[in-house]
Amino acid sequence: MIIKPEIQGVVARTAHPMGCQMAVLNQIAYVRNAEPVVNGPKKVLVLGASSGFGLASRIALAFGGSNADTIGVSFERGPSEKGVGTAGWYNNIYFRQEAEKSGMIAKNFVGDAFSPQMREQVIEYIRSEFGGKVDLVVYSLATGVRPNPETGELWRSSIKTTGAPVTGPTINIEQDKMVQMTIETATEEEVDATEKVMGGEDWQSWIDILSQADVLDQGCKTVAYSYVGPESTYPIYHHGTLGRAKAHLHATADKLNEQMKGLGGEAYVSVCKALVTKASVFIPAFSPYILSLFKVMKEQGTHEGCIEQMQRLFAERLYGQHQSAGVPVDLARLIRIDDWELEPETQDKVSKLMVQITEENFQQIGDYEGYKLDFMQLNGFGFDGVDYAAEVDMDELVALAP
Ligand code: NAI
Repeated sequence: MIIKPEIQGVVARTAHPMGCQMAVLNQIAYVRNAEPVVNGPKKVLVLGASSGFGLASRIALAFGGSNADTIGVSFERGPSEKGVGTAGWYNNIYFRQEAEKSGMIAKNFVGDAFSPQMREQVIEYIRSEFGGKVDLVVYSLATGVRPNPETGELWRSSIKTTGAPVTGPTINIEQDKMVQMTIETATEEEVDATEKVMGGEDWQSWIDILSQADVLDQGCKTVAYSYVGPESTYPIYHHGTLGRAKAHLHATADKLNEQMKGLGGEAYVSVCKALVTKASVFIPAFSPYILSLFKVMKEQGTHEGCIEQMQRLFAERLYGQHQSAGVPVDLARLIRIDDWELEPETQDKVSKLMVQITEENFQQIGDYEGYKLDFMQLNGFGFDGVDYAAEVDMDELVALAP
């Protein structure tokens, strides 16, 4: 079968396995040549390991100097009569293949990270086959729904503001168009539900259960990811439902940090840069900002993708020679790996560009080309060196276990 990209709005309905493999190999090649992670962790659990920041974390920790064995948990779909499967499914497979070639353990669990069964399986595996303990837990889940662990009822997140409604242009990748969208004001229930899905409750519950099972090593760290952004985007993000959920995540980091002191452990939130991922393309009215940001940061030579961000996080912040003074954090105890995004000179240029962007000129003024290429590559398309006209053997793909 020949696999072609099929995009619906901002969702890719197909993924190209060979391109996903290329994406994993490219990220491995990057971290092998970057400043290495020194004194890094050796036994890592990554929740949300199959794409975006979670996958980049796993690659940086395995191949970027620390040679970590990893367990990756993700929610992905394999090939079936319904389709070729999701990009993350193939990312898991090709990551594991490469890690095993280099003598590292890479175990993939595919299923619902919110479920008690997944916690049990992971703990059982850590005890029986992973040396009994982990020394880092990365929490990088991004999703729209979470089941209430008590009732099974679903909480659904919404991307809304908490102030007055905001109208702004949003990209439709399928049609290469910008369309006006209004972000409505969230109700209190919507704010609460988003906090349940994207706040810190599930992270806390994972750490509690891992700690009770005695599978967290002495000095174990945990990190989750957040976004803040410049003031111009506050009505959409920071002061919206997602920002409220992130505030809960930040508070959870402080609680976990206290809790983990008994183990000599630490808990952090790292505030990351705005990037194109499967999750972030859903944020409405954010497009003029991200298109302008990419343009300016590329011109300045400061642009980074998930892999550059994660390598820098582990090599220069969470681990490394810089450790004598502790992990560098801001006044709110957040790691700021969004430092280059928020540089005043960058933000000044971005603000000037943003106001010029219209539905007619966004492809010229902003970096739409780069934005779209990132999106295509997340799904394995748009790589030089992949023969997209070649037949892909589906039987071979079905035989690949995660
Ligand atoms: P992503 O969509 O690329 O990755 C999400 C991961 O979560 C995938 O591995 C997916 O399989 C997994 N997942 C989702 N639901 C699951 C479930 N029920 N069970 C098991 N696994 C599940 O998302 P991205 O963007 O990498 O997000 C990760 C974190 O980084 C989030 O907390 C996000 O808010 C944060 N972040 C993202 C930024 C961006 O611009 N993309 C910027 C700053 C922070």
